[in-house]
Amino acid sequence: MSPSDTMSPAQSLADDLAESRARTLNLIHPFDDGVLRGQHDPLMSPMVWDVAHVANYEDQWLVRALGGATILEGIDDIYDAFTHRRAGRGALLMLTPAEARAYGETVRAHALEHLAAADLHPDSATALLRRGFVYDMVVKHEHQHAETILASIQLLPSAEARRLQSVVSPAGVAPGGAEVRVPAGSFMMGSGDPCSYDNERPRRVVHLPAFWIDTTPVTNGDYEAFIVDGGYQSERWWLPAGWAWRQETAAVAPQFWERDGHGWQRWRFGQVDRLRAAEPVQHVCWYEADAYARWAGRRLPTEAEWEKAATGVSADPAHANVGQRHLGPAEVGAYPAGVSSYGAHQMLGDVWEWTATDFRLYPGFVAFPYPEYSEVFNDGGYKVLRGGSWATHPRAVSVTFRNWDWPMRRQIFAGFRCARDDV
Ligand code: AVJ
Ligand code: FE
Repeated sequence: MSPSDTMSPAQSLADDLAESRARTLNLIHPFDDGVLRGQHDPLMSPMVWDVAHVANYEDQWLVRALGGATILEGIDDIYDAFTHRRAGRGALLMLTPAEARAYGETVRAHALEHLAAADLHPDSATALLRRGFVYDMVVKHEHQHAETILASIQLLPSAEARRLQSVVSPAGVAPGGAEVRVPAGSFMMGSGDPCSYDNERPRRVVHLPAFWIDTTPVTNGDYEAFIVDGGYQSERWWLPAGWAWRQETAAVAPQFWERDGHGWQRWRFGQVDRLRAAEPVQHVCWYEADAYARWAGRRLPTEAEWEKAATGVSADPAHANVGQRHLGPAEVGAYPAGVSSYGAHQMLGDVWEWTATDFRLYPGFVAFPYPEYSEVFNDGGYKVLRGGSWATHPRAVSVTFRNWDWPMRRQIFAGFRCARDDV
């Protein structure tokens, strides 16, 4: 029996809240106030914004939404992700790191008071409380921002970024068989878990024709062959928008790759190392993934194909590279015990995987508890990513979890795998 089986649901949620906060504070611990308050890249918030934002989110959902009084007046606007673009957040009158930590502690104390009295039963009069939904949502939210903070740290100057302690990710033995066949048939797509996100619901039956999908994510070695073959110089592999992106950015390789006399190195958290050929490629945008797939005579999987191929996988830390134990993906084949029912490796963890699919709400979608989590992104401009990365907490990802971003984004910990029709 695990300790959580003997613990009350409220105690177990309190522990989860403590764990996600410890993770946030641990991540920012090595950095001084100047670094935490700095706007280091237009794509990312100052790290201290994320710290106060998660506290403000908790204030809104675990205190005020449950009847509590406002803890700090006049700051909601500063921490509203829709009011201020990331690039402009450095200019806001943000809480200092010490104030942000103190605010987080005060909010937490109030949240725990409410939790102690909360009716978490499935038939609770308060929909937010049923099965602990709103607590789970806040825990996952903070874990999501921990991954965002890591992406910010990766963009810091070397002397700062290298303050993170790095543990080398596991080696692997490439599995035999480059691709697996998923036979034609129906499967249940989406989540039946009442604590899942609104965008994962409702679950429904989806029929797919047979298809093939890569056994592992595309590796650095695979991707280098595309570069060597002139992939970044050949318009024919790129969609028009992708080629425009390539022309505008003059990209010749994934972000953080650097060339020296001997070949490619990669810059990771302030350290420059030779590329490991067997690691999944990381820091490519959707346009690059799509171009690579066309060059390889293949295509990206749809998100339905991805989810079906991942059947049977859970984010078990023993069987997947999740939870920031390593600061990068593991080599392909490193987690043979985490294989899916169809034989696909590393569907969860290592790198987020771009899919061919635009982020759209599922038929019958109902926004809960607020439209800004999912509904407002339903404009066809975002591509779906699946599976989580090495930086994703196991609590915050599953085979039904949907992430999304613009197709030109590369600072996230994303790679991809390819698929093809069964012909
Ligand atoms: C679902 C990962 C795209 O990080 O922007 C965080 C999650 N929503 N705070 C993001 C989220 C509100 C979101 N993603
Ligand atoms: Fe957020």
